[in-house]
Amino acid sequence: MTGVVLLVVATGVALLVAFLLLLCLVAPLTGPKPLSLSGAHVVVTGGSSGIGKSIAIECFKQGAFITIIARNENRLMKAKQEIEKFSVNDKQVVHTVSVDVSKDCTYVEKVLKQAQEKLGPVDMLVNCAGTSVNAKFEELDAGRFEQLMAVNYLGSVYPTRAVITTMKERRLGRIVFVSSQAGQVGLFGYTAYSATKFALRGLAEALQMEVKPYNIYITVAYPPDTDTPGFQEETRHKLLETKMISEASSICQPDHVARIIVKDATQGKFSSAIGVDGHLLAILTSGMSPAFSIADAFAGIICMGLFRFIGLYFLTSFNSIVLRCMVQKEKSGKKD
Ligand SMILES: NC(=O)c1ccc[n+]([C@@H]2O[C@H](COP(=O)([O-])OP(=O)(O)OC[C@H]3O[C@@H](n4cnc5c(N)ncnc54)[C@H](OP(=O)(O)O)[C@@H]3O)[C@@H](O)[C@H]2O)c1
Repeated sequence: MTGVVLLVVATGVALLVAFLLLLCLVAPLTGPKPLSLSGAHVVVTGGSSGIGKSIAIECFKQGAFITIIARNENRLMKAKQEIEKFSVNDKQVVHTVSVDVSKDCTYVEKVLKQAQEKLGPVDMLVNCAGTSVNAKFEELDAGRFEQLMAVNYLGSVYPTRAVITTMKERRLGRIVFVSSQAGQVGLFGYTAYSATKFALRGLAEALQMEVKPYNIYITVAYPPDTDTPGFQEETRHKLLETKMISEASSICQPDHVARIIVKDATQGKFSSAIGVDGHLLAILTSGMSPAFSIADAFAGIICMGLFRFIGLYFLTSFNSIVLRCMVQKEKSGKKD
């Protein structure tokens, strides 16, 4: 009797594995056609530093023409020189635009129109300009919430508005929104930041539904902690609780993060996750997000229950980190 049960279970597992393997094999046939970056025009906001600069370099290495956008002109010029070292043909150009993407939508549209006149219509837009703040909710003044929403959210809306009509006319395009793992799960100290990164996901889901018939694919990237000038600056003022939660996972290098984002975006994946914990979080928080392929959808459905348990385990340990910090601070007589 036990032998029969074992045989049935083993056959069931074997059939499931075979089914998943088959799905993986047909997956490339069901996803969108990959976008070649050779000769393409890629615009990267926040392209003068950190993840944005690495994304610009990765696209340039694949033969793209690049426009980088940021405010500080000196840093833009330095980044341009650095990116140019990676050219694969002598026709490639790096164009720089100094503008605050969060301020004036009409002006952002104007400078992007000029960039398209120079380097042709935009094939891929990467919205990477962003900033963060780490502090307790009541310690943040209202202005910081507004500033973060302006840069991280509206600063992605304005450039997207500037390119979407042409993309729809050409029936071609990729748009990337660089969110964060803090845009998948709210964490201690990130009340202002997390909200802006969650907002990008809502924007991306609604926009994907509108533009999919035009062969335009949206990617939301969820980078983990990444060693960039922005991250180093934030770390200097980080709350102890957030630091200890962050230490639960390792810090990534911007080149590695950029390679994955560019690959996922050119393939037309909706979610771009990095590392094992990143993939776990992406499946766990996928909700009603579009699935890239049938295999993607099935893997999510099958793993969801198990991952929910693992996710709850992590949340419980994060909460106990916060409690430990409070006790430690009380013992050392520090003011909260
Ligand atoms: N590093 C991480 O650990 C991490 C993790 C998850 C998500 N992210 C996200 O990834 C993105 C890049 O982060 P990063 O760490 O690479 O940042 P970073 O090194 O500080 O670079 C930020 C870039 O954005 C530009 N920028 C900032 N505000 C701008 C504005 N209002 N208008 C135009 N450009 C602006 C900056 O140039 P100017 O200052 O000259 O304008 C710079 O080029 C951000 O959206 C961030 O939230 C980062």
